[in-house]
Amino acid sequence: MKLNWAELLVVNNPSRVAQQRLEIGWMQKNVPSLKGGTFLEIGCGRGAGAAIIKKRFSPDVLCAMDLDHLMIKRALRYLKPAQRERISFYTADALNLPHPEEAFDAVFGFGVLHHVPDWQSALEEIARVLKPGGIYFLEELYPSLYQNFITRHILLHPEQNRFRSPDLKAALNSSGFSVHSCLELRFVGLLAVLIRKGGY
Ligand SMILES: C[S@@+](CC[C@H](N)C(=O)[O-])C[C@H]1O[C@@H](n2cnc3c(N)ncnc32)[C@H](O)[C@@H]1O
Repeated sequence: MKLNWAELLVVNNPSRVAQQRLEIGWMQKNVPSLKGGTFLEIGCGRGAGAAIIKKRFSPDVLCAMDLDHLMIKRALRYLKPAQRERISFYTADALNLPHPEEAFDAVFGFGVLHHVPDWQSALEEIARVLKPGGIYFLEELYPSLYQNFITRHILLHPEQNRFRSPDLKAALNSSGFSVHSCLELRFVGLLAVLIRKGGY
């Protein structure tokens, strides 16, 4: 589901960039080992996270996709040509990734899954394109933050099939991920470094 005007304000501002810098720094400290390789960012928005991922992890190639083609247009405007080198931006759906099985060493997703009505299928799709032993870097939010008595009137999210901490962890496990590191505020959301178990 695409963002409405209110969430566009929430994600397209300098404080979100500062937050992503801290989060990606935490992920880098908490990943077993990852240097170079082929990376994917789902729901990349205007590309601020992709630029930080590239700087911190130096992937050989970073594919950065979003459901909303206007976000991809924003990313092409927001990042300077040098920042865009080795990043390929395109429009696609996390439910149907245009990549073969086991194509990526790492997948990143910042605040995307809770926008996907069938988020369990998106997790399966992420597991499909990750190599065994590949890393899934995840930032997610729970409904008490984005669907409380105030935010439900301002933000736009799918209403059904929402996940809280136990639902997300159970689905990650059944999609073949094990938790390597996790930082969680139980009713707010989590940051996690996950490893795709061997053999899909
Ligand atoms: C909350 S924004 C986060 C943007 C960026 N990752 C950030 O952290 O600033 C969620 C993004 O996911 C995208 N999105 C929603 N559903 C998607 C889907 N099914 N496939 C790919 N992207 C999706 C939205 O268009 C939006 O850009």
